[in-house]
Amino acid sequence: MSLSIALTKGRLEKKTIEMLDQVGYGTQNLKTKGRTLVFEDTLKPVQYFLAKSNDVLTYVDHGVADIGIVGKDTLMERGSTAYELLDLEIGKCRFCVASLPEKKLLKKTGHIKIGTKYPRVAREYFLKQGIDVEVIKIEGSVELAPILGLADGIVDIVETGTTLKENGLVLLDTVCDISARVIVNKASYKLKREEVLQFVQDLESVVKLRADKNR
Ligand code: PRP
Repeated sequence: MSLSIALTKGRLEKKTIEMLDQVGYGTQNLKTKGRTLVFEDTLKPVQYFLAKSNDVLTYVDHGVADIGIVGKDTLMERGSTAYELLDLEIGKCRFCVASLPEKKLLKKTGHIKIGTKYPRVAREYFLKQGIDVEVIKIEGSVELAPILGLADGIVDIVETGTTLKENGLVLLDTVCDISARVIVNKASYKLKREEVLQFVQDLESVVKLRADKNR
């Protein structure tokens, strides 16, 4: 039985293809993709398609894709019915709280405003801290919100820290680490168990190989 695999396009795309390459998948069509969105593996009975991270979850949750490769950030924000089977240890970054240096955000009493692309993650974090928060959903360039006075601070993804630094924001706390995960539709896990586990094992071997190399 062939597997249908949803890959997150953009930042994770190249790193995911590198991992598949390393373990003998035929990713040639993915590398020369142009505007095409669906690709057959040239060596194995696998079909890939590229989608935005939120859509990867939707396709996997609905069983249109058996497997998805998606960031933990999206999984945390959206929630999913799929099994999370493997941390690929690529696309590593962190969910962080940041603000302008003079804000003393986490020491403030009373109501604070937070701009974020991740309202659920932000709400949960501040709830745990016992801080009364109003979350304002932002679609991108979240760093603008405190600079322009829309919010007191932000909850956002930090990778290198360059965006924060270049916009005069300071990191106040790390919410949690993030990386790409392999998720599997529950029905596919039962019906295509052998193929699914083979795929996961293949990628797991690359994760281990890379970890050994870095030791
Ligand atoms: C993400 C994130 C930060 C930036 C962090 O944005 O929201 O803005 O990357 O990366 P850094 O720590 O390496 O500077 P993205 O590039 O995805 O764009 P967006 O803000 O338009 O969503």
